[in-house]
Amino acid sequence: MLAYNLIGSSLVALGALSIATMRARANWGSSALDRTTGAQEAVSERAPSPENDGWYHQHGDPSVVELGGSMGPRLIIVSNRVAVPEPGSKQMAGGLVVAVKAALRNRTGVWFGWSGKIDETETAEPRTIERNHITYAVIDLSKNDFEEYYNGLANRVLWPILHYRVDLQEYSRADHSGYMRVNRLFADKLSAFLREDDVIWVHDYHLMPLARELRIRGRLNPIGFFLHIPCAPLDILRTLPHHDEILGALTDYDLVGFQTENDRDNFAAYLSTAPGVKKGRGLTFEVEGRQTRIGAFPVSIETATYARLARKAARSPFAKEIRESLTGLRLVLGVDRLDYSKGIVQRINAFDRFLEVNPEWRSRVTLLQIAPRSRSAIIDYAAIENEVTTLIGRVNGRYGEAFWTPIRYINRFHSRTALSGIYRAADVALITPLRDGMNIVAKEYVAAQDPENPGVLVLSQFAGAAAELTGALIVNPHECDAVAAALKRALGMPLFERRERHGPMLEHLLVHDIDQWAESYLAALAETRQRPGLMSELRAFLSPSRSRTDRRATPEVRRQA
Ligand code: G6P
Repeated sequence: MLAYNLIGSSLVALGALSIATMRARANWGSSALDRTTGAQEAVSERAPSPENDGWYHQHGDPSVVELGGSMGPRLIIVSNRVAVPEPGSKQMAGGLVVAVKAALRNRTGVWFGWSGKIDETETAEPRTIERNHITYAVIDLSKNDFEEYYNGLANRVLWPILHYRVDLQEYSRADHSGYMRVNRLFADKLSAFLREDDVIWVHDYHLMPLARELRIRGRLNPIGFFLHIPCAPLDILRTLPHHDEILGALTDYDLVGFQTENDRDNFAAYLSTAPGVKKGRGLTFEVEGRQTRIGAFPVSIETATYARLARKAARSPFAKEIRESLTGLRLVLGVDRLDYSKGIVQRINAFDRFLEVNPEWRSRVTLLQIAPRSRSAIIDYAAIENEVTTLIGRVNGRYGEAFWTPIRYINRFHSRTALSGIYRAADVALITPLRDGMNIVAKEYVAAQDPENPGVLVLSQFAGAAAELTGALIVNPHECDAVAAALKRALGMPLFERRERHGPMLEHLLVHDIDQWAESYLAALAETRQRPGLMSELRAFLSPSRSRTDRRATPEVRRQA
């Protein structure tokens, strides 16, 4: 209660920032683009149809106000996708989901976002479900929103640009308007249940303007943003038409987090040249008297839990089946969403080269490429799928034998548990994205290994994880011969070197796990609103497990793993 009062009164003090200032500020960077209109593009025939699983229930206005409990500060997580727990369903395994779950662990909170469903009744209130002190609140999108916001600006423009693929961006004003419209929709729905002591944490490129929209609605709450994908250099960011309206809107957040220092520095360079933005002390920037801080917070995994999961999975019937199917072959593994940023084509080419120049390895090794389909309404995704399928067919045709398939290719989604067993069985993980924010598969592979007999990680220098996983064989995915050579080296690596490389990486991940990530981000967010030492209750709320565990990789922590 004391915490509640203190935080409440501090935020009232923060209310000294007038709404008028907020409004003026919110106009910074607004473009000539009409915010409310825009020609509507044809809706994709491939948009998902609504399913009613009967799992949610409706909330009217009064109950929505009480989402996540009626007392005390709440952590409000906002992301495009929300992993609503569904009975009997496989757990979603993506980095964002793992990260958000960690942020909400031991905190009272709400996770708000898109249900993943299409429905035209946009005015509906969020559907909610309560699970272990977390309230999941989701809204549907109309077909038009789905096409313009999700398929359109988010995934046809922001995704390629931020992954340095300017050549793939397909900008349209209609999509831009749709993106802004859905951000306003999110702000409206969110505003309806926000309390003044809520702390808001927005995730990923779909929702960059959300804080600005909330500020326009008079919301003075601490609002943080985390970009899960890379941030490209200044000249590339500037290829985004009306970038000030989208990237510039990030200055309405109190803290903007990036995966790596490189991403952070790219954004700092962008802000340094943005009109009306003044460089403050350290990593802070100022717009019209309000401060934004930026920082690097490399996302991680539940290292100890994942290691335990893999140990168990190794004894499962599924893992036994995999081992038996290998009939003595060495296993090289690739696991990626089927996306052009993942470098799957270059990887297959490198495997082709490896078999070409090392005939002694033919019939002794197999590459298992797991690649669940993704965003298939977008032409570049359909194109990459065709290219990968054709290429794999060619390699299998060229080198395959009646008794040996060089590349096994699977589009099916696998649960975290199943994947952990596959990671443990793999001699080498070939993780070679052309550009990746972090790549948690790399971290999961390390955590899943038997420390006594670990496999080898071959990792692209362009994955965010490369900055931390220095025991990997680091490669440039564009250099086919070098990747082929690294694969040969990995397959022949003696046990002592495998251990020497793996041990420090596991230690690092045990310390820098996902809880530590959430705690450090939220502590930094709390710091942005106070002079150090003030409002310690807010910090305590945001970091409940800080004192619970000292995260040094003590022998005990290692044993638990
Ligand atoms: C990346 C993004 C996430 C996104 C995920 C899956 O990891 O950072 O925001 O949710 O890909 O993509 P999808 O378009 O299916 O949500």
